[in-house]
Amino acid sequence: MNRRVFSGMRPTGKLHLGHLAGALTNWVKLQDGYECFYSIVDWHALMSDYADSSSIEKNSVEVLLDWLASGLDPEKCVIFLQSHVPQHAELHLALSMVTPLGWLQRCPTYKEQILNIQNKDLSTYAFLGYPVLMAADILLYKAGIVPVGEDQSAHLEISREMARRFNSFYGEILPEPQIMLTPTPKVPGTDGRKMSKSYGNSINIADTSEEIWEKLRPMITDPARERRTDPGDPDKCPVWDIHKVFNNSEEEKAEIANGCRTAGIGCVDCKKKLRTHVDRVMSPIREKRTFFEKNPSLLQDILREGAVKAKKVAQQTIDEVITAIRFVPRG
Ligand code: TRP
Repeated sequence: MNRRVFSGMRPTGKLHLGHLAGALTNWVKLQDGYECFYSIVDWHALMSDYADSSSIEKNSVEVLLDWLASGLDPEKCVIFLQSHVPQHAELHLALSMVTPLGWLQRCPTYKEQILNIQNKDLSTYAFLGYPVLMAADILLYKAGIVPVGEDQSAHLEISREMARRFNSFYGEILPEPQIMLTPTPKVPGTDGRKMSKSYGNSINIADTSEEIWEKLRPMITDPARERRTDPGDPDKCPVWDIHKVFNNSEEEKAEIANGCRTAGIGCVDCKKKLRTHVDRVMSPIREKRTFFEKNPSLLQDILREGAVKAKKVAQQTIDEVITAIRFVPRG
């Protein structure tokens, strides 16, 4: 069985608790049983931010810090920047030769983003080809498993089709990757909507305990519970959703849910309890983050060594691809 894993994240800034619960916790588990490649995909960030690329470097470092803090271990998995491994660009070019335009034009994420993103001009050649670069990322390592959220399933399907199409022309070189849908516990943001940087409702991995409290304290709860004496319904409360992710005491959760339904406890009490649980989970993560933040040369080492390991695998695939295409072999 192919036990190689590839996944990536675009460096768009600090990661939040949704990323932690939805992706990173799973990535950290996978590094013990699989050969994992995790890439900060800076070229993908440039596809939407080409007009102002000034934040990509800083954002890449933030993502790296959040990854390391959350428990990705460079001794157990390969952590690298996409742009440090030029073979991604080379495979992207090769795949683009066999990519029918219709596949890209019909891609639901493309149609959706072109319609909804107004503040950036995304009618570029590269942005249309977003799934081609993503396929190159995965196929370059011949990854069998790609842990991603549901939102990436159309892209994964294109990656699979791309592998089949390439192989149909040039021989069985690129294995078809399988999607591994990550179980994503619901982590609402402070306004009750899905936690997302673009909504400005996130609690970040990098936030201090005080910053987290400043966000939790005014957070909306069951809208029907206007007064302390009104009974509430936990199932209508976003704070309760976060309890379900961070509170590890079944007993306390039962008490809280019951207290809410009977107006036995107030929302502030419930939030204070939540704060202790978020602190318990986040404080070792925060400590680790601070450690790495103070050691920038360590970050450089991690990225350099990651790129060396990634390139070794990547170049082998490129050599096979070049041979399969029947270009003159490189001497
Ligand atoms: N498109 C992914 C996202 O926005 C990021 C990504 C790029 C990726 N290349 C990948 C994910 C390869 C998995 C595998 O989340």
